[in-house]
Amino acid sequence: MHETYDFEKPRLKKDLEPEELLGVILEYAAKIANERSLDNVLMLMADMGKQIVISDRCTVWLLDDQRGELWSKVAHGVKELRIPLGAGLAGHSVSTGEPIFIDDAYTNVEFREVLTSGALRTDKQTGYRTKALMVIPFRNNEGDVIGCYQAVNKMTDSEVFSDRDLRNLSLAASYSGKSIESAMLSQEIEETQREIIFTMGEIGESRSKETGNHVKRVAEYSYILALGLGIPQTEAEILKMASPMHDIGKVAIPDSVLKKPGKLTEEEFDVMKTHTEIGYNLLKNSKRRILKTAAVVAEQHHEKWNGRGYPRGLKGEEIHIHGRITAIADVFDALASDRVYKKAWELDRILNLFKEERGQHFDPQVVDAFFEHLPAILKVRDEYADHLLE
Ligand code: C2E
Ligand code: SIN
Ligand code: SIN
Ligand code: SIN
Ligand code: FE
Ligand code: FE
Repeated sequence: MHETYDFEKPRLKKDLEPEELLGVILEYAAKIANERSLDNVLMLMADMGKQIVISDRCTVWLLDDQRGELWSKVAHGVKELRIPLGAGLAGHSVSTGEPIFIDDAYTNVEFREVLTSGALRTDKQTGYRTKALMVIPFRNNEGDVIGCYQAVNKMTDSEVFSDRDLRNLSLAASYSGKSIESAMLSQEIEETQREIIFTMGEIGESRSKETGNHVKRVAEYSYILALGLGIPQTEAEILKMASPMHDIGKVAIPDSVLKKPGKLTEEEFDVMKTHTEIGYNLLKNSKRRILKTAAVVAEQHHEKWNGRGYPRGLKGEEIHIHGRITAIADVFDALASDRVYKKAWELDRILNLFKEERGQHFDPQVVDAFFEHLPAILKVRDEYADHLLE
């Protein structure tokens, strides 16, 4: 991942002059202040830190109080890193609120144990040579430590971090503290919203044998299909949040019908069909985009391209594209899963049905997108497989 730190190489780099330092801080402070994604804030802060102290590597760790861990994000597409608070130098610094300087990890005595189980062990695996280390805790407006910077290997002649590095990086960190807190709050709100949405969707499902992955799979299938049809990213994300709620109206369907092990009678199926209008009525008054989209999807996910669906018998493009997409996502998942009333179908049988229903039940273009993106869809199916609770 990183090239080896070469101690023979002359150190060409110099510490920043005050005006250069100010330039770096201003540049990053502006970017960070405009960033709402916490992952991006962390990565920008790490870049800024690396430039300010001229280190080979720089990581920003954030405290997760509830789990007693520090976590970090080092790159897009890479899963977050997590370490227990009690395990490393970073945790030590966050717990004590004190910075740590180490000039050479291989001769340091004070942190011998932590280094042996941390940096030195990693070096052995990677061939990297950790020498200088600096860890600086940073605080929020209330003065609580919320995380730390960890810089590794000073790239100037001195090869060690200085008090000046400490001051400069602390100064820079103080500018980002507020952005971190507001990004953390946005993330918290978004995660809470997502949980509420999935929980609402799961209420609608109420299937005795399912763990609730149905709604997550339908969300992901809808997202893949939307992007495949050229729908803009933001709208696809809104549909992904909204589609799990398509069956929310089933809250009002009696268990005797919803959980009936066998085939429904005509009267029972008429009761079942009302879940579309009930869902629509539950959601229609919201002004929020996600819930407005969810209302349309709840009402229209059983409409058919040929006009023979319910509740309104809409036809072709009279059915909103969000409804046409969710229809395929929902049926694919219903057929690929065990239900109280039926066993899961083999994939080939499902694909044959989709070919037959292209232009009948389903919008032909959405069916085409389905086949084009089948590998991604099957990946989701396998990743969110149900763990049956017998
Ligand atoms: P669901 O289980 O989520 O199924 C969604 C849709 O997937 C169904 O909408 C249907 O279009 C398709 N689907 C599911 N299983 C099969 C199948 O075995 N063969 C075919 N050709 N298509 C299938 P639909 O029919 O409007 O049903 C809506 C909801 O009504 C279903 O949601 C389910 O909760 C309930 N339901 C439908 N049929 C029965 C049944 O025979 N017994 C029971 N207990 N519930 C049923
Ligand atoms: C740490 O001690 O906090 C982590 C050391 C490392 O593995 O880089
Ligand atoms: C979502 O992001 O909307 C849900 C899918 C996930 O759990 O990542
Ligand atoms: C339906 O009843 O229309 C679909 C479900 C099934 O075929 O069992
Ligand atoms: Fe439904
Ligand atoms: Fe469903």
